[in-house]
Amino acid sequence: MLSFKKITLAAIIGAAFALTGPLSTTAMASSDGDAAKGAKVFKKCAACHSFTKNKFGPNLAGIYGKPAASVKGYKYSKAMKAANITWNDENLDKFLKKPKKFIKKTKMSFGGLKKEKDRKNVIAYMKSKM
Ligand code: HEC
Repeated sequence: MLSFKKITLAAIIGAAFALTGPLSTTAMASSDGDAAKGAKVFKKCAACHSFTKNKFGPNLAGIYGKPAASVKGYKYSKAMKAANITWNDENLDKFLKKPKKFIKKTKMSFGGLKKEKDRKNVIAYMKSKM
């Protein structure tokens, strides 16, 4: 009985992997942006952000992979502090698409990057600034 259960479980897990397989490759494909193009997109961010110091927005040096609201010496909104997320591809993409939709009440007053390409590229650029 027990071994039968184990086998069914393994079959279910196997099926789940088979299902998520193609999905995760699309997720990976969406992370290969062009950092050089991203540098141009970043001009839209540069009024508020740099990679050397906190400006109106936090210093974005090494932001990729960091938890939200973790740059020292920067005064975040309550919303950002409560976000409890890590800046991976998925979260950066959602945030940059429409900041105030992803994190309601963030003080980042930026309309968002509508083009997926722009988001991918600017994320690649941030990754290059680790
Ligand atoms: C009008 C100014 C402004 C612009 C333009 C702007 N940001 Fe921001 N950004 C902010 C502010 C302010 C915060 C802090 C938000 C908070 O505390 O709610 C922030 C936060 C962030 C964070 C989270 C940082 C952390 O430490 O958790 C990221 C990532 C980010 N911005 C990326 C970008 C990118 C990429 C662009 C350009 C596509 C951009 N921002 C454009 C002002 C701006």
